[in-house]
Amino acid sequence: MSERIHIFDTTLRDGEQSPGAGMDDNAKVQMAQQLDRLGVDIIEAGFPIASQQEFESVARVAKAVKNARVAALARSLDKDIDRAAEALQYAKRPVLHTFIATSEIHMKYKLRMSPEQVLDAAAAAVARAKRQVPRVEFSAEDATRSDWEFLAQVSTAAIEAGADVINLPDTVGYTTPDEIRDMFRYVIANAKGAEKAVFSSHNHNDLGLAVANALAAVEGGARQIECTVNGIGERAGNTSLEEVVMAINTRNDRFQYECGINTKEIVPSSTLLSMITGLTIPFNKPIVGRNAFAHESGIHQHGMIANASTYEIMTPDSVGRSRSDLVLGKHSGRAGLARRSAELGFELSDDQTDQLYERFIVLADRKKEVYSDDLRMLIVDLHNEEFQTYHLEELRTFGEDPTVALVKLKCGDEMITETATGDGPVHAASVAIERIVGHTGRLEEFEVRATTPGKDALGEAHVTVRFGERAYRGSGASTDIIASGIHAYLNAVNKHVAYLESKKLNGNEK
Ligand code: KIV
Ligand code: ZN
Repeated sequence: MSERIHIFDTTLRDGEQSPGAGMDDNAKVQMAQQLDRLGVDIIEAGFPIASQQEFESVARVAKAVKNARVAALARSLDKDIDRAAEALQYAKRPVLHTFIATSEIHMKYKLRMSPEQVLDAAAAAVARAKRQVPRVEFSAEDATRSDWEFLAQVSTAAIEAGADVINLPDTVGYTTPDEIRDMFRYVIANAKGAEKAVFSSHNHNDLGLAVANALAAVEGGARQIECTVNGIGERAGNTSLEEVVMAINTRNDRFQYECGINTKEIVPSSTLLSMITGLTIPFNKPIVGRNAFAHESGIHQHGMIANASTYEIMTPDSVGRSRSDLVLGKHSGRAGLARRSAELGFELSDDQTDQLYERFIVLADRKKEVYSDDLRMLIVDLHNEEFQTYHLEELRTFGEDPTVALVKLKCGDEMITETATGDGPVHAASVAIERIVGHTGRLEEFEVRATTPGKDALGEAHVTVRFGERAYRGSGASTDIIASGIHAYLNAVNKHVAYLESKKLNGNEK
């Protein structure tokens, strides 16, 4: 039987550190439940000491997850460890993940601690965590720029103090496959008690090597891979879950391991994440990008018709995608719509299906053919609206230079109308929205693209709006691109409003 590689998903913690990827509690719970369906072994839910809100969301994820272990992060500090243990109290199988940096550069400039102090702090943190939670992971931050002998010493101390997992992260995405393989071999050979621990690899993608480095770490003895859906994360992101899992599955002749992932849940997980964060997936992204199974050249198409394995190394079906993209027309029924939505990974309630059906009929009246991506954007809009405080009821724009916009928003039972002028319709309408909600943001990114081919395509807009220190992604879709831009802007504004509300409910950040 093949050896097992544990998949540790950190989409909700390291992934959320992607600029603009902030998720509210509901979104985190929804994503955690999807990760559980995907079959990951561990879900890292967050960093409880960061704020009261973060603490609450870790606790809610801990309660909601049925199968996977749930991890919470803590620096090697007493207050962090106690807070993480408290947030994990409802988890069926909690993991306390504590870390401290071990590279000379981090110890000297960031921690201002000597190697001996770091060694003591690591052992004390693991021991404290182990008294409160049965399973403890220790990470030597910036391991790939640390002295290997010191890494072996710290790993020995952490294992003696009770660590079950030793993680050696490539925090800055600096290492190479040969180097990380040798590092794992060295530390596993030289840390006392290494056979009692699972060694883990956590890689960042600054040089585009995160997946290759994870696979090389496994060759060196790692048996846990830390990764995120769609590869989101700090800077250039983390090891992409879908890429590393499908590399192991597809090249099982080279990587004779088994990951326990239900690969048919890969595309639904990727789509859900993109929907709730507003982070779009590049068309050419392996496995989950729109073009990952598209065959453009005539020679390739001809080969595919003769036998799909001529140009495909895995089937779309194996990762939860359907090959035929044409979904429904005007006469497709409500049941067909619900079935197609479920195939895309969205289980809708009867009420949601009714609302989706109404919008679908309006769209199908305008476009003859409705594709999966059209449906996905209709669902995104529906989902966004469900959690929004402000809903766009009416939008009218007039003239140029300046443009005047009239915006009517609904908030509970109240209708609020405002007009504003600006340099074009998006500017004017966003000023009107800001007057209504009373918060002014800075539009940092504005991206519009056609959801599907054809002149009658839906236009989807994605924006990043900054309010002080926090940036939010917003998405919206419409056959009118001005309206899609305004929906996206309002979506980001609503995320900020929801953040302020939850801050009020939970008290201030620490
Ligand atoms: O990149 C890193 O070093 C981390 C640790 C906290 C595991 O995310
Ligand atoms: Zn990281």
